[in-house]
Amino acid sequence: MKQINMLVAFLLLFFFASHPTAVAQISTLASPNFWKILNMEHVDAGGTSIFPVLENSSSSYRTFFGFYTRNGHSFILSIVFWGPQAPVIWSANPENPVSGDAILNFTREGDLLLQDGDRTISWSTETKNRLVSRMSLDVSGNLVLFDQNNYSLWQSFDHPTDTLVLGQALCRGQNLSATPSNTKWPDARIYFSAELDGLQYSFEPAAYIQLFQAITPPTYRTTTCYAFVNGSLGFPDKIFLLPLASSMQLMKLESDGHLRLYEMVMPNLELLMVLDVLSIAMNSCDYPLAWGDYGVCSNGQCSCPSLSYFRFQDERHPDAGCTPLTSISCDHVHDHQLMPLYNVS
Ligand SMILES: *[C@@H]1O[C@H](CO)[C@@H](O)[C@H](O)[C@H]1NC(C)=O
Ligand SMILES: *[C@@H]1O[C@H](CO)[C@@H](O)[C@H](O)[C@H]1NC(C)=O
Ligand SMILES: *[C@@H]1O[C@H](CO)[C@@H](O)[C@H](O)[C@H]1NC(C)=O
Ligand SMILES: *[C@@H]1O[C@H](CO)[C@@H](O)[C@H](O)[C@H]1NC(C)=O
Ligand SMILES: *[C@@H]1O[C@H](CO)[C@@H](O)[C@H](O)[C@H]1NC(C)=O
Repeated sequence: MKQINMLVAFLLLFFFASHPTAVAQISTLASPNFWKILNMEHVDAGGTSIFPVLENSSSSYRTFFGFYTRNGHSFILSIVFWGPQAPVIWSANPENPVSGDAILNFTREGDLLLQDGDRTISWSTETKNRLVSRMSLDVSGNLVLFDQNNYSLWQSFDHPTDTLVLGQALCRGQNLSATPSNTKWPDARIYFSAELDGLQYSFEPAAYIQLFQAITPPTYRTTTCYAFVNGSLGFPDKIFLLPLASSMQLMKLESDGHLRLYEMVMPNLELLMVLDVLSIAMNSCDYPLAWGDYGVCSNGQCSCPSLSYFRFQDERHPDAGCTPLTSISCDHVHDHQLMPLYNVS
């Protein structure tokens, strides 16, 4: 009987010992050092893997700074909230992933460098020789580089990518940006930026701009920052009213051009969409990507310029755009006519 008990105890010990504890050892603070993806442990979340450099789990959710991958061979240096959807809230190199033999090098000179496998520098904080002594990750996902006097020299919150988290501000000169999914323009970008007189939504290369004006005139303002706080976006002005936060919230400018507010729902930290933020002020036709090629938008409905010369690409999805029935060319000009279109955007 005693022997059986010993066997059980041994098995239990073995069971616990064989489970990785690596993640629990990850610090929120780091001094100059380097991290090579190949040598790092990873955590899995929602079909993605995170190779953490720093972790802060001082709240009911966990925040990681490290390498993020969906396919196991291209990596993005990111800040991620752990959970079933593992939302990425910031990225150093969103458009140029690095390979598995890349290195993150926090140099003695105080620079944080992302070096790809061939040692080319993919990204840097450009803080060389500024007396950086350590970096830390706070629970809301702000990565900060400090000097010896705990003065902040660089922070990821000042370099937003497509996401704002509760407590973060968008200041003049900064913007959220997204690459639209359904456009044939290779360089097209959607921006949500902080301007002197308010928050601005724009679409490039088309000169499309929509301004959400702040009430306080710029001359009365001490800074031109618009904070995302509990209940509103644009603080101290309430440019957009938001539902009160029952847990951590984040907003993301997505590839369809919508800025969506999400909440991390307890206990599983599931990401729940709670508001399509700009849709308080914009209808579906105001989004530059609401319709496909040759589509026209009128009163929230997508249609073709004319059904004698065009047909829907997909009858069930009128927003996919239209296809001309005869090819459009500039030959035989006398055979063409221009048609007026009314009340469209
Ligand atoms: C990190 O960068 C420093 C300074 O550029 C360099 O001397 C060092 O070799 C790099 N470390 C690694 C592991 O690449
Ligand atoms: C985690 O972040 C919070 C602020 O968000 C900070 O106060 C705390 O010190 C961090 N945790 C650790 C262990 O550094
Ligand atoms: C800086 O912050 C660290 C960690 O919070 C603390 O241990 C240290 O004493 C602080 N140093 C100064 C100069 O305030
Ligand atoms: C958005 O920010 C980027 C990087 O700072 C900048 O190059 C770009 O011009 C900005 N765009 C707008 C519309 O503010
Ligand atoms: C937001 O404000 C409401 C009402 O004051 C409060 O109940 C809630 O806890 C706050 N949420 C957060 C995340 O602080």
